[in-house]
Amino acid sequence: MAENPDDVLHVEGGKPLNGTIKVRGAKNFVSKAMVAALLAPGKSVLKNVPEIRDVHVVSDLLRLHGVDVDVDGANGIVTIDASRVQLADVADVDTLSGSSRIPILFSGPLVHRLGEAFIPALGGCAIGGRPIDFHLETLRKLGATVDKEHKDGIHITAPNGLHGAKIHLPYPSVGATEQTLLAAVLAEGKTELSGAATEPEIMDLVCVLQKMGAIISVDVDRTFRIEGVKELQGYTHTSLTDRIEAASWASAALATHGDIFVKGATQPEMITFLNVFRKVGGKFEVTDKGIRFWHPGGDLKPVAIETDVHPGFMTDWQQPLVVALTQANGLSIVHETVYENRFGFTKPLVEMGATIQLYRECLGSLPCRFRQRNYKHSAVIFGPTPLTGRDIDVPDLRGGFSHLIAALAASGPSDVHGISLIDRGYADFRGKLEALGADFD
Ligand code: EPU
Repeated sequence: MAENPDDVLHVEGGKPLNGTIKVRGAKNFVSKAMVAALLAPGKSVLKNVPEIRDVHVVSDLLRLHGVDVDVDGANGIVTIDASRVQLADVADVDTLSGSSRIPILFSGPLVHRLGEAFIPALGGCAIGGRPIDFHLETLRKLGATVDKEHKDGIHITAPNGLHGAKIHLPYPSVGATEQTLLAAVLAEGKTELSGAATEPEIMDLVCVLQKMGAIISVDVDRTFRIEGVKELQGYTHTSLTDRIEAASWASAALATHGDIFVKGATQPEMITFLNVFRKVGGKFEVTDKGIRFWHPGGDLKPVAIETDVHPGFMTDWQQPLVVALTQANGLSIVHETVYENRFGFTKPLVEMGATIQLYRECLGSLPCRFRQRNYKHSAVIFGPTPLTGRDIDVPDLRGGFSHLIAALAASGPSDVHGISLIDRGYADFRGKLEALGADFD
């Protein structure tokens, strides 16, 4: 098939990115808050919503279920009226199959509203196996019957409603924690969820659910306790900022010797990233309006990091930072403990001149599920190495943004193919690149 010319970005690299950009709400919260609106037969208003493709996928899925959704992209306001919810046509739902991982989170809310749910085959970035066993086990424990035999997806029913249960997650999965919260808030009785994830995006979802009328508490040992209530009402909420996007632009500033003020970026959710950014030699200044990130000149320093669940170093921060680490003076080590296969994006970086070696061993001390398994989940980066532009194919969202950063930092031209994938999570990145003085078309 012929390539769409709009899907290729031609970049003339080697220019520092300088200027101001604005980052809106978190992709990984906004989509979940939109699903939460399904729980209440009324109107919900979500503010600070970014103009990204995931918002449109969730809007379409809600509309297929009879929900009214109004997306005011320019002002970042999504209004959802879930007074009416109906079963969607399986064939229609299936057209959205493969576009995102969010549909699985419709399970609990749809079962509460309609007694059943149909979930199409899931999409999302190819960065590991990305199973949904924890999600399905959670739903079963809460009393749902899960039929995986349906040819197009998963059919979930609960003729007698969902009821509270004691659930333990074998790994603190973000999605499975959200699944449990969204399903347990209206379940009859109490639910205890231990081994949960507590990312800031999850805590913002808890805030939304609490505004809606839910009763949820969290213990210091990452156990959520949810007391089911009979009904919930709509909410009005402003999303927390996208800390992954903010860190991506921070890494871009470092890799291109630039100076970027990220309006909207907030410190509390980024403490771990900021520590690493400082250790690498980057400078930052936190203000009431956002965070300024810049390369102060001189050598960047190598670091050893391990990705982890919150409050650890996010896996989604790893990929953009690796590009900056190719410019640090010495050996950096990154041990990826969240996804088994998140270093595929380093191959094009090596072809651009980076020295990066991947290892199956755990190069770190965190307990890791991939120990003694056949996954190349540790990377050693030796720098500084000049990068040279080339043709690149975007593999996944964060890997793709990293390639874009590499192309901007490299000398000479690069053609970045499959660039539309980046629209999934980086709102108006072309406009932002323009504001930062990047040379591209
Ligand atoms: N896992 C299982 N079984 C499950 C669920 C997860 O084994 O049923 C494993 C996964 O395979 C993975 C680990 O648990 O190895 C963590 O997965 P998690 O469920 O936490 O991830 P997720 O909810 O699918 C969200 C974000 C990701 C982000 C991760 C970790 C959304 C839509 N996605 O994914 O974001 O990397 O949490 O923070 O919220 C991105 O934005 O580019 C992105 C990939």
